[in-house]
Amino acid sequence: MSRTVSRIAGLLPPSLRRAAAGAWLDAKSLPARVRDPVRRGEPWQTLHNVGGGDFARAGLENLELLRAYAGLTPDSDVLDIGCGAGRMAWPLATYLHPGAAYVGFDVSPKAVSLCRQRFSPVRPDFRFIEADVANREYRAGGQEPEDRYRFPVDDACIDVAFATSVFSHMTLASIRRYLSETARTLRPGGRFLFTGYALTPSRSEALARGEGRFAFRPWQEGSMVIDPRSPERAIAHPLPDFLDAVHAAGLTMADEVKLAGWLGPADYPGGQDLFVVRKPSAA
Ligand SMILES: C[S@@+](CC[C@H](N)C(=O)[O-])C[C@H]1O[C@@H](n2cnc3c(N)ncnc32)[C@H](O)[C@@H]1O
Repeated sequence: MSRTVSRIAGLLPPSLRRAAAGAWLDAKSLPARVRDPVRRGEPWQTLHNVGGGDFARAGLENLELLRAYAGLTPDSDVLDIGCGAGRMAWPLATYLHPGAAYVGFDVSPKAVSLCRQRFSPVRPDFRFIEADVANREYRAGGQEPEDRYRFPVDDACIDVAFATSVFSHMTLASIRRYLSETARTLRPGGRFLFTGYALTPSRSEALARGEGRFAFRPWQEGSMVIDPRSPERAIAHPLPDFLDAVHAAGLTMADEVKLAGWLGPADYPGGQDLFVVRKPSAA
């Protein structure tokens, strides 16, 4: 979306803006859906917009990242934070063995109901849970504050957790809470992959010069947003703040942060920067 279209779209209420953008993505993907039988089964972005691109391929690419960086195996118990329309549940439905737990939660009732409809015939053991949590972009009327939400899973029962393109819609206070909840629910030695937009000094300078795919501008606590009226539309946070939040939650970085090509050189092909986090093993 061009910066001008993005600014005009910002005048709409978030749900309408996302549905309109979703309708545009659906129209653009129509020829590919007709040609490619795999893509015919993709959920419509008009119903719940999780972003453009090839839905099935993105899910498979993320599955490979989970295998490579988080040690995902077909027997892992997994937690999908902000599961959306099931982009990760889709490949996991065939990858995970029966008996391996999958729990996905999301603030969007529509996303959760789409996932239940889609996966209950093939993986009735997959659990999709609606989180009645306030997020100004995705659920303004949510009852629970995001920075106090308790994940709907027990302590230390998850091997691999992930949040793809979710922390890019959350404030630092909420991210701190979600990291500490992730730490609570991971088994010792368990891993967490998340993506977000990380600000380095050179990136902040480039943004000030008007470079990059997104028009991020200064907001609060050193974070930047593309739309101050709806900050959770897309938020970038300083890289040191992400790392401090990881450590404050009792987690450690298992690998270098992999920068994506949304601004400057890319370390890996993903659309957002990738963090690989580990819960220390018990002493
Ligand atoms: C861009 S979509 C990504 C969805 C999915 N992770 C994927 O990669 O396809 C962002 C998702 O995060 C969800 N979300 C936003 N805030 C959340 C929160 N505080 N807790 C759980 N889900 C949240 C939204 O409803 C939306 O489905």
